[in-house]
Amino acid sequence: MKASIFALSLSAGALGAPTLDARQQVSTGTGPYPARWVTAPDFPNHTIYIPQNVDAVNGTMPVVAWGNGACSANGLGQGNFLAEIASWGFIVIASGGPNQGGSTTAQWMKDSIDYATRTTSGPFAKANKESIGVAGWSCGGVEAYEQYQDSRVKTIGIFNSGQMDEGGTRRVVPNIRNKSVFFFLGGPSDIAYNNGMRDYRALPSGIPSWNGNLPVGHGATYGDANGGRFGKAAQLYFRWVLKGDQTAASWFTGNGAQQEGWTVERKDLDKLVFPPQGDTPSKC
Ligand SMILES: *[C@@H]1O[C@H](CO)[C@@H](O)[C@H](O)[C@H]1NC(C)=O
Ligand SMILES: *[C@@H]1O[C@H](CO)[C@@H](O)[C@H](O)[C@H]1NC(C)=O
Ligand SMILES: *[C@@H]1O[C@H](CO)[C@@H](O)[C@H](O)[C@H]1NC(C)=O
Repeated sequence: MKASIFALSLSAGALGAPTLDARQQVSTGTGPYPARWVTAPDFPNHTIYIPQNVDAVNGTMPVVAWGNGACSANGLGQGNFLAEIASWGFIVIASGGPNQGGSTTAQWMKDSIDYATRTTSGPFAKANKESIGVAGWSCGGVEAYEQYQDSRVKTIGIFNSGQMDEGGTRRVVPNIRNKSVFFFLGGPSDIAYNNGMRDYRALPSGIPSWNGNLPVGHGATYGDANGGRFGKAAQLYFRWVLKGDQTAASWFTGNGAQQEGWTVERKDLDKLVFPPQGDTPSKC
């Protein structure tokens, strides 16, 4: 076991194209590009969700780095939900390999950003390196927060999560700059409800933020087909904030979310800055 881990780390730097792993067991998403997960030999501790047919994707793909619930290292843990996001033309990198045991740290999420930024082969040829988001469920959300000083990150998605205590809130939240922060919480029965709500109130003024609660509790709907209602919310969020897709905006700025049972607060959404979308292959 040790020897093979060593061999894997030796191969780091040989930037191979991710290859399909046959054990795909996730939804393919509701977006225009049915998605799958792959692994990259030069990045074995992560699971990458991409459109099955990258060639069909119009334009560039933003990158979302994801931290699993419980900071688990199983990159398939929220597979249905992450495939839903990827099916809208995103590269999603979950910390942890497929069915990997053990735990992740925030460093693994930074590794995802570094990998996406430096890799130019395979699907990453279409990655929009100017449009990177971080997000996670519960413990994974705390890993996302830890990227708050990374200027490559344009948005932080806090899913059924929040800082563990007031000290964490004070250390991180008022110091967030030049990023939006979106909260997707599970209502008062969510064990992270008070944490997420406290963080929302601690954001500095001028930080675009949306806070939604759907009364489904801490487990949310990640395991439902296509990630259920949280999957829908997440793909709309990333399409709007990372792709500038205005058809996704009204769910947040109008009452689309409320009509689906979300309780919503929002501030400074008019200050959202949309990342450049890069070269768009000819669309005629
Ligand atoms: C993958 O994770 C394991 C367990 O944390 C670690 O020992 C190993 O060095 C990691 N491999 C790479 C290539 O980062
Ligand atoms: C935020 O953006 C402003 C304007 O572009 C820039 O001056 C500032 O250095 C940025 N702050 C951080 C922490 O990146
Ligand atoms: C991609 O662009 C082509 C050519 O303009 C168009 O026919 C197709 O519908 C587009 N697909 C999506 C999902 O936008």
